[in-house]
Amino acid sequence: MDCDIVVVGSINADLVLRVPRHPDPGETILGRGSVTLPGGKGANQAVAAARLGATVAMVGAVGTDPHAEVALQGLREAGVALDQVRTVEGPTGLAVVTLADDSENSIIVIPGANEAVTPSLVEAADQLLAAARICVLQAEIPMGSVIRAAEVAHGHATRVLLNVAPAAALPRATLQLADPLVVNEHEAGILLGHALRRTEDPAAELAALGVRSVVITWGAAGVTGHEDGASWSVPARRVEALDTTGAGDAFVGALAAELAAGSSSQRAAVLATRVAAASVLRLGAQTSYPWKGDPLP
Ligand code: RIB
Repeated sequence: MDCDIVVVGSINADLVLRVPRHPDPGETILGRGSVTLPGGKGANQAVAAARLGATVAMVGAVGTDPHAEVALQGLREAGVALDQVRTVEGPTGLAVVTLADDSENSIIVIPGANEAVTPSLVEAADQLLAAARICVLQAEIPMGSVIRAAEVAHGHATRVLLNVAPAAALPRATLQLADPLVVNEHEAGILLGHALRRTEDPAAELAALGVRSVVITWGAAGVTGHEDGASWSVPARRVEALDTTGAGDAFVGALAAELAAGSSSQRAAVLATRVAAASVLRLGAQTSYPWKGDPLP
């Protein structure tokens, strides 16, 4: 099946724990409740793009435990093609998300089946990657597979959207295949090796490493970017956040959908900030993402 976007990445079940506040080290606190929802940065981005009308295929893996069904539920509902999602013996990726009353979360990911997304599994999706407009990558599968997917996609002249989340060390040669490289301010600081100040232009600094285009998210301070030798910025939408889990993935998925439709990265970031803002109004990652035509902040 030909599609606009191929996402090579993680698929998790998110065990969301509602807590009044995050516990201190060594402390036990009582939570308010729990729910298991579909998640994983790769799957979240695939769902965000598909809900906005892009045709999307996923390359990844789930395990043989009951979490696999939950993890695939959102992808199925959004119509993401799952032919290249393998089932491997063992547990599905699991993220324990602690969501505090101030809407701040902390996340621990146990990769499980995501470890089975090997370079050879990526190579098996060669035809899919060749036919797509955009290959979307994150850093929750083995780094060798991220590197290989970027090489295979780029080799077929398929555009590579590389979201280095969570922060990870990647060879400069891989970063240079990105168009765009998408990072938050923390991840950008790690790639550049210094803390960022809003007054500087880290997107231009990353572009100077030989990256074709760069998008940096700054939370409530909006988005900055660099493309075709020029820097740009887009303000964030102000909303009352309930749960920020997966907001960055909503942004990336929406950005990919708009880029696949032919937008510039700045124009794509305008819609993506609105989709990310919509996502923080509801609980969960995929469960909070808007569908095409839904009103946006
Ligand atoms: O970015 C949010 C995601 O990070 C969660 O859905 C969780 O699964 C982790 O991968």
